[in-house]
Amino acid sequence: MMKITAPDLHCGMGRLQKSLIPFLGLVLAFCFYSARENFKPEMLKGKRVIVTGASTGIGEQMAYHLARMGSHILVTARTEAKLQKVVERCLKLGAASAQLVSGSMEDMAFAEHVVKEAENLMGGLDMLILNHIGKSYFSYFDGDVGHVQKLLQINFLSYVAMTVSALPMLKESGGSIVVVSSMAGKVGFPFTVPYSATKFALDGFFSSLRQEFSIQSVNVSITLCVLGFINTESAMKAAADVVLMSPAPKEECALEIIKGGALRQREVYYKYASTKIPLLIRDWAAEFLDYLVRKRYNVENLKKN
Ligand SMILES: NC(=O)c1ccc[n+]([C@@H]2O[C@H](COP(=O)([O-])OP(=O)(O)OC[C@H]3O[C@@H](n4cnc5c(N)ncnc54)[C@H](OP(=O)(O)O)[C@@H]3O)[C@@H](O)[C@H]2O)c1
Ligand SMILES: *[C@@H]1O[C@H](CO)[C@@H](O)[C@H](O)[C@H]1NC(C)=O
Repeated sequence: MMKITAPDLHCGMGRLQKSLIPFLGLVLAFCFYSARENFKPEMLKGKRVIVTGASTGIGEQMAYHLARMGSHILVTARTEAKLQKVVERCLKLGAASAQLVSGSMEDMAFAEHVVKEAENLMGGLDMLILNHIGKSYFSYFDGDVGHVQKLLQINFLSYVAMTVSALPMLKESGGSIVVVSSMAGKVGFPFTVPYSATKFALDGFFSSLRQEFSIQSVNVSITLCVLGFINTESAMKAAADVVLMSPAPKEECALEIIKGGALRQREVYYKYASTKIPLLIRDWAAEFLDYLVRKRYNVENLKKN
C-alpha cells in the first residue's frame, strides 16, 4: 500500500489535484472490489445448475468445472450423443449428479421444458447459465430477415423464456442467472450482424431486469459475460483466418464465467484487458474504437458466400 501523509496532500494539492483525485478513486475502487468475497470452488458444491449449449465449446468446459466443484448439473443442447459423453465425463470428474435434456432452443416450449426438468430432476435451481447460440454466418449481412428472426428466437427469446420459467425456483434459492454474451453485444462488429443484434438484445433485457430486481429486492443476481475471441472449435472455424487476434482458452474462460456468477458480479470481462479497455474507449471515442475494430479484420480472407 502507498503511504500518503497529510503534508504531502496539502502542499501538492494544486498541482496534483488533477492526477491525484482520479488515482485515489482507483485505489478506493480497488480496495472496494478486493474487499468483496473471494471465489472458492466450495461455493458451487451441491448447487443445482443448468448449463445450456453444453455439448461443446465453453458450455462443455463449464460443465466440467462444475463437476469438479461437486455441483448437480443439467446439460442441454440439440445433440444427445455429445451430451451423453459430457454427462459421463462430469460423473467421473465428481459431479453430485449429471443429467441431460436434448432439444432445440428455437422452440420456446422446449426452453420451458428444460427448466421443468431441472425441477423434476434436481428439486430446484441455484444457477441458470444461458450460453447456447444458434448457427449463423460470418460474412457481410445478407439481408435474410428470416435468419435474424430465427437467431433472435434461439439466442435471445429462449433466454427470456427460460428466465421466466426459472424465476420462482431462483427466488426461492436466492440464485443466479448467468448470461453469456460477447464484445459483439457491446460494440458494433462487422460480419456478425444478426448475432450482434441478439447479443445487444440480451444486454437490454437483462440489464433492465437487474434494475427491477434491485428496486423490488429480488435476491436473484444477473451476471452478463462480455467475452472476446475464444478458441472454441466453431469460433476458430468461422473466424480464425479473418480475425487478427489470438484467441483465449475456453477452459479458463469457462472458469471465469462460473466465478463471476458465484460472486454475483454484475458483469464478467474475459479476457479483462482486451474487453474492458476497448469499452472504456467506446464511451469516450466511439469512432476511434470503430476504426480499431475494423483494423482487426483481414477482409481478404473473408469466405465468399
Ligand atoms: N467462441 C468465441 O469466440 C466467443 C466469443 C464471444 C462470445 N462467445 C459466446 O460464448 C457462448 C458459447 O460459445 P461457443 O464458442 O462455446 O459456442 P459453440 O462451441 O458453437 O457451442 C454452441 C452450443 O450451442 C448449442 N446449440 C446450437 N444450436 C442450438 C439450438 N438451436 N438449440 C439449442 N442449442 C443449440 C450447440 O450444441 P448442438 O449443436 O448440439 O445443439 C453447442 O452446445 C455463446 O453464447 C457465444 O456467443 C463465444
Ligand atoms: C441473497 O442470496 C445470497 C445467495 O443465496 C445470500 O448469500 C444472501 O444472504 C441473500 N441476501 C439477502 C438480502 O437475502
